[in-house]
Amino acid sequence: MNTYSRLPLSIQNGKGTYVWSNNNEKYLDFTSGIATCNLGHCPPEVEKALKKQLSALWHTSNLYHVPKQEELARLLVDKSCFDQVFFCNSGAEANEAAIKLVRAIANNSHKKQASIVTFQQSFHGRTLATVAATGQEKIKSGFEPMLEGFIHLSYNDYQSLQTIRELKPTAVMLELLQGEGGVVPAEPEWVKELSSICKEYGILLVIDEVQTGMGRTGSLFLYEQYDVEPDIMTLAKGLGSGFPIGAMLAKEEVARAFKPGMHGSTFGGNPLACTAGIETLKIISEENFLKNITEQSQFLHTQLESVLDDFSFIKEKRGKGMLIGLEIDGNAIDMVKMALEEKLLLLSAGPNVVRLLPPLTISQEEVISFIQTFIKVLQQYREEEHG
Ligand SMILES: Cc1ncc(COP(=O)(O)O)c(C=O)c1O
Repeated sequence: MNTYSRLPLSIQNGKGTYVWSNNNEKYLDFTSGIATCNLGHCPPEVEKALKKQLSALWHTSNLYHVPKQEELARLLVDKSCFDQVFFCNSGAEANEAAIKLVRAIANNSHKKQASIVTFQQSFHGRTLATVAATGQEKIKSGFEPMLEGFIHLSYNDYQSLQTIRELKPTAVMLELLQGEGGVVPAEPEWVKELSSICKEYGILLVIDEVQTGMGRTGSLFLYEQYDVEPDIMTLAKGLGSGFPIGAMLAKEEVARAFKPGMHGSTFGGNPLACTAGIETLKIISEENFLKNITEQSQFLHTQLESVLDDFSFIKEKRGKGMLIGLEIDGNAIDMVKMALEEKLLLLSAGPNVVRLLPPLTISQEEVISFIQTFIKVLQQYREEEHG
């Protein structure tokens, strides 16, 4: 159906940082399938494990134990501050599961209806509950009436913290770096205070790491960099390297509110998806791999900084690790289209932010090649839009 304004490119193959069109033209991919193919296209370790799993078992259902699901859950629990995992197939579904768990807690233990604070410019998905959670009018518009129980406050704002103290909602749900909303990081001091209010008043802290998780910002999960311990975290995108999978992780005392029959999914935790997840997580969580993301992303940031001063229409560079936003004085989609002409895939995040999401495996040579092409795009943009 007519749900996307597609760009004029059909992609046939992918390897590492590159994709090839159906007429065999090579493109440098700085989108990673929107922060999903974090290991680049067709990473060989994941491909090998998936091929083996293809010959063993594709699907059973959650009526039985699924060993690959248990293995991935154990790995996720080992590498995070959480104790239990629910598997699903996408980011929106992971957030739906988190919203249901919060509601179950309010209903079961406190015998009251749940209220959840989320933030303006947030993005949590396209299902009806996650649209209601999302703090952007353009995502909600046309789908009213909205599901009740969400309160949107302004992000990085200390008045919002005061409101949270007064409202004492069941949960606060946020991205620590708003992706779709324009690549806006949360301020560390603000997050620290938010987290301590949540602890003081028994408010659940839910972190949406669908876009920021799986090494994207230099640590396995972004909450580690903020030195906070959320009660619930959601993942998807990078977890399966492109194989659809989502997960909702929770602390034991929180997860306990779900009992058999309260939530479920036919495909969630499917053996193929979990195989992709296991191999991906093993690679990304290695100390040297994470160190390399930080090194390569610092190189990318430094290279970008050295050229941005020459282009006054670029107002700000934001982001962390390999999730970078450039706020421009102009239309981001126009720049994305110009880049496509130069065989470079870029993304927008809102009307005036160009988003860069290279794979975490990008090499220095590829960063240099990106910078050379990007300078051409910026020059052309200046001539056409600002000349
Ligand atoms: C932070 C965040 N949450 C949730 C989602 C929804 O994920 P999905 O498209 O897999 O449903 C996205 C997708 O962009 C996202 O960036």
